[in-house]
Amino acid sequence: MEEREKVVEIKNLKKSFGDLHVLKGVDLDLFRQENLVVLGKSGSGKSVLIKIMVGLLRQDSGSLKVFGKEVASLKKKELNELRLKIGFSFQNSALYDSMTVRENMEFPLVRNEKNLTRKDINTRIEELLDSVGLPQTINQMPSELSGGQKKRIGIARTLILNPEIMLYDEPTAGLDPITCGEINNLILEVRERYKTSSIVITHDLACAKQIGDRMAVLLDGQFDAVGTFEEVFPNAEDERIKSFYDYNFINS
Ligand SMILES: Nc1ncnc2c1ncn2[C@@H]1O[C@H](COP(=O)(O)OP(=O)(O)OP(=O)(O)O)[C@@H](O)[C@H]1O
Ligand SMILES: [Mg+2]
Repeated sequence: MEEREKVVEIKNLKKSFGDLHVLKGVDLDLFRQENLVVLGKSGSGKSVLIKIMVGLLRQDSGSLKVFGKEVASLKKKELNELRLKIGFSFQNSALYDSMTVRENMEFPLVRNEKNLTRKDINTRIEELLDSVGLPQTINQMPSELSGGQKKRIGIARTLILNPEIMLYDEPTAGLDPITCGEINNLILEVRERYKTSSIVITHDLACAKQIGDRMAVLLDGQFDAVGTFEEVFPNAEDERIKSFYDYNFINS
Protein backbone atom coordinates (compact mmCIF):
# COMPACT_ATOMS: atom_id res chain seq x y z
CA MET A 1 0.00 0.00 0.00
CA GLU A 2 1.19 3.46 -0.85
CA GLU A 3 2.30 5.58 2.10
CA ARG A 4 0.03 8.56 2.54
CA GLU A 5 1.87 11.84 2.64
CA LYS A 6 1.92 13.59 6.01
CA VAL A 7 1.49 17.33 5.72
CA VAL A 8 1.66 17.83 9.49
CA GLU A 9 3.63 15.60 11.83
CA ILE A 10 3.54 16.22 15.59
CA LYS A 11 5.63 14.25 18.05
CA ASN A 12 5.67 14.46 21.84
CA LEU A 13 4.74 18.13 21.81
CA LYS A 14 4.60 19.89 25.17
CA LYS A 15 3.43 23.35 26.10
CA SER A 16 2.85 24.90 29.50
CA PHE A 17 1.94 28.35 30.66
CA GLY A 18 3.60 28.63 34.06
CA ASP A 19 2.14 25.82 36.17
CA LEU A 20 -0.59 25.11 33.67
CA HIS A 21 0.48 22.11 31.61
CA VAL A 22 -1.71 22.32 28.55
CA LEU A 23 -0.10 19.95 26.05
CA LYS A 24 1.63 17.02 27.73
CA GLY A 25 3.18 15.08 24.89
CA VAL A 26 0.92 15.34 21.88
CA ASP A 27 1.33 13.03 18.87
CA LEU A 28 -0.74 13.65 15.77
CA ASP A 29 -0.43 13.44 11.99
CA LEU A 30 -2.46 15.15 9.30
CA PHE A 31 -2.45 13.41 5.93
CA ARG A 32 -2.80 15.12 2.57
CA GLN A 33 -6.43 15.94 1.71
CA GLU A 34 -7.67 14.56 4.96
CA ASN A 35 -10.28 16.24 7.16
CA LEU A 36 -9.11 15.65 10.70
CA VAL A 37 -11.50 16.68 13.47
CA VAL A 38 -10.03 17.73 16.81
CA LEU A 39 -12.35 17.51 19.79
CA GLY A 40 -11.74 18.30 23.42
CA LYS A 41 -13.37 20.26 26.14
CA SER A 42 -13.01 23.97 26.56
CA GLY A 43 -9.52 24.88 27.74
CA SER A 44 -7.99 21.55 26.70
CA GLY A 45 -5.49 23.23 24.37
CA LYS A 46 -6.95 22.87 20.88
CA SER A 47 -6.40 26.47 19.90
CA VAL A 48 -2.94 26.45 21.48
CA LEU A 49 -2.04 23.49 19.27
CA ILE A 50 -3.01 25.18 16.04
CA LYS A 51 -1.34 28.42 17.11
CA ILE A 52 1.91 26.47 17.49
CA MET A 53 1.29 25.10 13.99
CA VAL A 54 1.36 28.57 12.46
CA GLY A 55 4.16 29.85 14.68
CA LEU A 56 2.02 32.17 16.79
CA LEU A 57 3.11 30.25 19.90
CA ARG A 58 6.18 28.11 20.42
CA GLN A 59 6.25 24.72 22.11
CA ASP A 60 8.43 24.01 25.17
CA SER A 61 9.63 20.73 23.68
CA GLY A 62 8.81 18.14 21.06
CA SER A 63 8.49 18.43 17.32
CA LEU A 64 5.90 19.95 15.01
CA LYS A 65 6.64 19.69 11.31
CA VAL A 66 4.56 21.17 8.53
CA PHE A 67 5.42 20.02 5.01
CA GLY A 68 8.43 18.30 6.58
CA LYS A 69 9.82 21.46 8.15
CA GLU A 70 10.20 22.07 11.87
CA VAL A 71 8.09 25.18 12.43
CA ALA A 72 9.99 26.33 15.55
CA SER A 73 13.27 26.46 13.59
CA LEU A 74 11.98 28.50 10.67
CA LYS A 75 13.44 31.93 10.03
CA LYS A 76 11.00 34.79 9.87
CA LYS A 77 10.88 34.79 6.08
CA GLU A 78 10.32 31.03 5.91
CA LEU A 79 7.61 31.28 8.53
CA ASN A 80 5.85 33.94 6.49
CA GLU A 81 6.04 31.72 3.41
CA LEU A 82 4.62 28.82 5.38
CA ARG A 83 1.80 30.94 6.73
CA LEU A 84 0.69 31.73 3.20
CA LYS A 85 0.13 28.01 2.67
CA ILE A 86 -1.99 27.69 5.79
CA GLY A 87 -5.44 29.21 5.91
CA PHE A 88 -6.20 29.92 9.52
CA SER A 89 -9.81 30.74 10.24
CA PHE A 90 -9.66 32.02 13.81
CA GLN A 91 -12.19 31.06 16.43
CA ASN A 92 -13.61 34.56 16.51
CA SER A 93 -12.55 35.35 12.99
CA ALA A 94 -14.07 38.72 12.50
CA LEU A 95 -14.48 40.47 9.22
CA TYR A 96 -13.41 44.09 9.15
CA ASP A 97 -16.64 45.86 9.99
CA SER A 98 -15.80 49.05 8.17
CA MET A 99 -15.07 47.26 4.89
CA THR A 100 -17.44 45.76 2.34
CA VAL A 101 -17.29 42.05 1.59
CA ARG A 102 -15.26 42.83 -1.53
CA GLU A 103 -12.75 44.91 0.45
CA ASN A 104 -12.51 42.22 3.13
CA MET A 105 -11.61 39.70 0.44
CA GLU A 106 -9.26 42.01 -1.37
CA PHE A 107 -7.25 42.98 1.69
CA PRO A 108 -5.19 39.77 2.17
CA LEU A 109 -4.86 39.35 -1.57
CA VAL A 110 -3.27 42.70 -2.41
CA ARG A 111 -1.12 42.59 0.70
CA ASN A 112 0.42 39.27 -0.25
CA GLU A 113 0.38 39.21 -4.04
CA LYS A 114 1.78 42.38 -5.48
CA ASN A 115 1.53 41.78 -9.20
CA LEU A 116 -2.16 41.23 -9.69
CA THR A 117 -4.18 43.28 -12.15
CA ARG A 118 -7.58 44.68 -11.20
CA LYS A 119 -9.11 42.03 -13.43
CA ASP A 120 -7.21 39.20 -11.67
CA ILE A 121 -8.35 40.51 -8.31
CA ASN A 122 -11.99 40.77 -9.33
CA THR A 123 -11.98 37.33 -10.92
CA ARG A 124 -10.50 35.75 -7.84
CA ILE A 125 -12.92 37.46 -5.45
CA GLU A 126 -15.90 36.50 -7.61
CA GLU A 127 -14.76 32.90 -7.88
CA LEU A 128 -14.40 32.55 -4.11
CA LEU A 129 -17.72 34.24 -3.34
CA ASP A 130 -19.31 31.91 -5.86
CA SER A 131 -17.82 28.86 -4.23
CA VAL A 132 -19.23 29.82 -0.83
CA GLY A 133 -22.59 30.57 -2.47
CA LEU A 134 -22.68 34.28 -1.69
CA PRO A 135 -21.90 36.22 -4.89
CA GLN A 136 -24.72 38.67 -4.19
CA THR A 137 -23.13 39.97 -0.98
CA ILE A 138 -20.09 41.48 -2.68
CA ASN A 139 -20.97 45.10 -1.93
CA GLN A 140 -22.57 44.53 1.45
CA MET A 141 -21.18 45.45 4.85
CA PRO A 142 -20.59 42.69 7.43
CA SER A 143 -23.28 44.20 9.66
CA GLU A 144 -25.82 43.34 6.95
CA LEU A 145 -24.91 39.64 6.95
CA SER A 146 -26.25 36.79 9.08
CA GLY A 147 -23.92 34.81 11.36
CA GLY A 148 -23.76 31.93 8.89
CA GLN A 149 -23.05 34.26 5.98
CA LYS A 150 -20.22 35.89 7.93
CA LYS A 151 -18.68 32.47 8.54
CA ARG A 152 -18.88 31.71 4.83
CA ILE A 153 -17.26 34.99 3.87
CA GLY A 154 -14.59 34.34 6.50
CA ILE A 155 -13.88 30.97 4.90
CA ALA A 156 -13.81 32.52 1.42
CA ARG A 157 -11.34 35.15 2.64
CA THR A 158 -9.13 32.46 4.13
CA LEU A 159 -9.17 30.58 0.81
CA ILE A 160 -8.23 33.55 -1.31
CA LEU A 161 -4.50 32.89 -1.03
CA ASN A 162 -4.88 29.27 -2.13
CA PRO A 163 -3.82 27.60 1.11
CA GLU A 164 -2.85 23.93 1.08
CA ILE A 165 -3.85 23.44 4.70
CA MET A 166 -7.01 24.84 6.28
CA LEU A 167 -7.35 25.21 10.04
CA TYR A 168 -10.94 25.76 11.06
CA ASP A 169 -11.33 26.76 14.70
CA GLU A 170 -14.97 26.12 15.61
CA PRO A 171 -16.45 27.02 12.24
CA THR A 172 -20.02 26.31 13.34
CA ALA A 173 -20.01 27.79 16.84
CA GLY A 174 -23.15 29.74 17.56
CA LEU A 175 -25.03 28.62 14.44
CA ASP A 176 -28.34 26.79 14.24
CA PRO A 177 -28.23 23.11 13.22
CA ILE A 178 -29.30 23.74 9.62
CA THR A 179 -26.72 26.43 9.05
CA CYS A 180 -24.15 24.19 10.75
CA GLY A 181 -24.97 21.52 8.19
CA GLU A 182 -24.45 24.03 5.39
CA ILE A 183 -21.06 25.10 6.73
CA ASN A 184 -20.10 21.44 7.06
CA ASN A 185 -21.03 20.86 3.41
CA LEU A 186 -18.98 23.88 2.50
CA ILE A 187 -15.96 22.45 4.30
CA LEU A 188 -16.38 19.24 2.29
CA GLU A 189 -16.77 21.18 -0.97
CA VAL A 190 -13.68 23.23 -0.21
CA ARG A 191 -11.65 20.07 0.07
CA GLU A 192 -12.93 18.74 -3.27
CA ARG A 193 -12.45 22.00 -5.07
CA TYR A 194 -9.18 23.27 -3.59
CA LYS A 195 -7.59 19.94 -2.56
CA THR A 196 -6.95 21.20 0.96
CA SER A 197 -5.92 19.17 3.99
CA SER A 198 -7.82 20.36 7.05
CA ILE A 199 -7.93 20.35 10.80
CA VAL A 200 -11.37 21.21 12.09
CA ILE A 201 -11.84 22.02 15.76
CA THR A 202 -15.41 21.55 16.88
CA HIS A 203 -17.54 20.68 19.87
CA ASP A 204 -20.25 19.35 17.64
CA LEU A 205 -20.16 15.59 17.15
CA ALA A 206 -22.75 15.62 14.40
CA CYS A 207 -20.45 17.96 12.51
CA ALA A 208 -17.46 15.78 13.33
CA LYS A 209 -19.25 12.74 11.97
CA GLN A 210 -20.32 14.52 8.80
CA ILE A 211 -16.97 15.95 7.80
CA GLY A 212 -14.22 14.06 9.58
CA ASP A 213 -12.20 11.23 8.06
CA ARG A 214 -10.64 10.81 11.48
CA MET A 215 -11.37 12.14 14.95
CA ALA A 216 -8.76 13.03 17.53
CA VAL A 217 -9.87 13.66 21.10
CA LEU A 218 -7.62 15.80 23.27
CA LEU A 219 -7.89 14.54 26.84
CA ASP A 220 -5.66 15.72 29.62
CA GLY A 221 -3.01 17.13 27.32
CA GLN A 222 -2.75 14.14 24.98
CA PHE A 223 -4.62 12.59 22.09
CA ASP A 224 -5.94 9.42 23.67
CA ALA A 225 -8.39 8.42 21.01
CA VAL A 226 -7.64 8.82 17.31
CA GLY A 227 -9.56 7.05 14.57
CA THR A 228 -12.74 7.08 12.52
CA PHE A 229 -15.95 8.21 14.17
CA GLU A 230 -17.09 4.61 14.52
CA GLU A 231 -13.79 3.59 16.06
CA VAL A 232 -13.70 6.39 18.60
CA PHE A 233 -17.25 7.05 19.72
CA PRO A 234 -20.14 4.62 19.70
CA ASN A 235 -18.50 1.97 21.83
CA ALA A 236 -16.08 4.11 23.79
CA GLU A 237 -15.26 2.73 27.20
CA ASP A 238 -13.36 5.75 28.45
CA GLU A 239 -15.86 7.77 30.50
CA ARG A 240 -14.42 11.04 29.26
CA ILE A 241 -15.12 10.10 25.63
CA LYS A 242 -18.47 8.53 26.45
CA SER A 243 -19.62 11.70 28.11
CA PHE A 244 -18.82 13.65 24.94
CA TYR A 245 -20.89 11.25 22.90
CA ASP A 246 -23.79 11.06 25.34
CA TYR A 247 -23.96 14.80 25.63
CA ASN A 248 -24.19 15.28 21.88
CA PHE A 249 -26.50 12.44 20.97
CA ILE A 250 -28.57 11.63 23.99
CA ASN A 251 -28.96 14.66 26.20
CA SER A 252 -29.34 17.28 23.51
N1 LIG B 1 -1.03 32.96 25.55
C1 LIG B 1 -1.45 32.31 26.64
N2 LIG B 1 -0.96 32.60 27.87
C2 LIG B 1 -1.36 31.93 28.95
N3 LIG B 1 -2.27 30.93 28.95
C3 LIG B 1 -2.81 30.60 27.76
C4 LIG B 1 -2.42 31.27 26.55
N4 LIG B 1 -3.11 30.72 25.54
C5 LIG B 1 -3.88 29.75 26.09
N5 LIG B 1 -3.70 29.68 27.41
C6 LIG B 1 -4.36 28.72 28.31
O1 LIG B 1 -4.19 27.43 27.76
C7 LIG B 1 -5.38 26.64 27.97
C8 LIG B 1 -5.84 26.08 26.64
O2 LIG B 1 -6.34 27.16 25.84
P1 LIG B 1 -6.97 26.94 24.42
O3 LIG B 1 -7.34 28.28 23.91
O4 LIG B 1 -6.05 26.13 23.58
O5 LIG B 1 -8.26 26.08 24.75
P2 LIG B 1 -9.29 25.43 23.74
O6 LIG B 1 -9.15 23.95 23.84
O7 LIG B 1 -9.11 26.04 22.40
O8 LIG B 1 -10.67 25.86 24.39
P3 LIG B 1 -12.04 26.36 23.71
O9 LIG B 1 -12.77 25.12 23.30
O10 LIG B 1 -12.74 27.07 24.81
O11 LIG B 1 -11.69 27.27 22.57
C9 LIG B 1 -6.38 27.56 28.66
O12 LIG B 1 -6.36 27.28 30.04
C10 LIG B 1 -5.86 28.96 28.39
O13 LIG B 1 -6.17 29.83 29.44
MG1 LIG C 1 -10.22 27.31 21.22
